[in-house]
Amino acid sequence: MLRGKKILLGITGSITAYKSILLLRCLLKEGAAVKIILTPSAKNFVTPLTLATLSKNEVLVELFDEATWANHVMLGRWADIMIIAPLSCNTLAKMAQGHCDNLLLATYLSATCPVIVAPAMDEDMWHHPSTKNNLNTLATFGHKIIPVDKGELASGLVGDGRMAEPEAIITFIKKHFFTPSILKGKKALVTAGPTYEPIDPVRFIGNHSSGKMGIAIANELHEQGADVTLILGPVMTNNLALPNVNIIDVNTAAQMYAACMGIYQDVDICIMAAAVADYTPIEVASQKIKKAENDFSISLTRTKDILLALGENKKQNQVLVGFALETVNEKEYAKGKLEKKNADMIVLNSLNDNGAGFGLETNKITIFTRSGQELNFEAKSKSMVAKDIIDTIIRFHYV
Ligand code: CTP
Repeated sequence: MLRGKKILLGITGSITAYKSILLLRCLLKEGAAVKIILTPSAKNFVTPLTLATLSKNEVLVELFDEATWANHVMLGRWADIMIIAPLSCNTLAKMAQGHCDNLLLATYLSATCPVIVAPAMDEDMWHHPSTKNNLNTLATFGHKIIPVDKGELASGLVGDGRMAEPEAIITFIKKHFFTPSILKGKKALVTAGPTYEPIDPVRFIGNHSSGKMGIAIANELHEQGADVTLILGPVMTNNLALPNVNIIDVNTAAQMYAACMGIYQDVDICIMAAAVADYTPIEVASQKIKKAENDFSISLTRTKDILLALGENKKQNQVLVGFALETVNEKEYAKGKLEKKNADMIVLNSLNDNGAGFGLETNKITIFTRSGQELNFEAKSKSMVAKDIIDTIIRFHYV
C-alpha cells in the first residue's frame, strides 16, 4: 500500500528517536521512498550516518552551511506525506506558533502535503494545558495526531506520553492516507451532548452527558470519508478539534429536534448519541425565580422524541442508529427501542458495566441490529468504540 509513496520523516530531539530508525525500516519494507530531516538536537539521539545509510538518501539537518542552502520548499513539495516522529514538546510549540529556526520547521511550513505527528514526552508535559492547546492548534491546521501510548517513560515514571510504536504509526498512515474512503459521498448527521431545558434565565434541567461519544463518532465518520454535520448540545468544547465537521450548536431538545429535521431528508446516516431531555418545563419564567417559604414544583411536558420522529420518516436508503443507556433489563429495553423507534441499530451502554458511563474516557457497548444480531464489544477508548460503531454500519449497510 505504501509502495512508491514519498515520505518525509522529521525527527526531533527525544529519547524515543531510536524508534524512528525502526519506523524508517518499516516504511522502507513497505516500499516507500523516505527522506529524513533532523532537528539539530535530534543528532544527540540518532546519527545522520545510520539514517542516511538505511534510507539511501542524504539526511538533512541545517538550513544552510557555507556553500549550500537546503531547498525546504522543494522538499515539502516532493513528499506525499510528512511525518514528524517523535514530535517533542519544543517542536510542537514552534509548529503551533509558526517558528522557523531550523530546516525541519522551514520544511514543515513549506509543506503542501498532509502532516502527521507522533508526539513523545513525559506524562506531566503531555497533560500540561499548553501541550493540549498546541495539539489543538495543529488539529485545526488539519494535521493528524497519532495518540500517545501509556507505559514506561524516559523519566522512569509510568504513564501517558510514549510515542506510538512504529507498526502502529504505519497502520495509522495506511488507514488515513492510503485506504479508499468507504463513506465518501455519504452525508451523516450525528447528535451529541446533553440538552439544557430552561426553568428561568439562570437555571435549567440538564444531564451529565459530556458529548465525547458523539464527537468521537463524528470524527470517525469524517475519517471514513463522510460529509458530517454534528448537532451538539451544550458541552465544554475546549478540547474539541473537529476542523472538518460542520457543527450546529443547540441548547434545548426543541432546538435539536428542529436542527435534525432541517437536514434529515438529505442525509444517508444518522447517529443519535445525544442525551436528549425527555421533559421540559411547561413555562419558562422570564425573571429569576425567587425562593419562598413553601415547597416549589415545576410542571414538565414531554419533549419530542427525535429518534422516533426520524424513524417514522425514514427512507429506504437511510441508516438510523440510536443509543440506549440503561440500568436494568438492558437488552430488552434496547431491543424495544430498536423496534419502537424503527432504528437500524441500537447501541447499548449499560451503567452496570465497568468502563461505561458519563464523562469517562472509555465505553463498553453492545450493538443490536435490525437483522437480529447482538454484537458485544470490550471496554475501550471512545474513539475505538466510535470505530467499532462505524465499522459495523459499513459492514451491515455498505459492503
Ligand atoms: N432520543 C431522542 N429524542 C428524545 C429522547 C431520546 O432522539 N427526546 C434518542 C437518544 O438520542 C437515543 C435514544 O433516543 O439515541 C434513546 O434515548 P433514551 O433516553 O435512552 O430512551 P427513551 O426512548 O427516551 O426511553 P427511556 O427514557 O424510557 O429510557
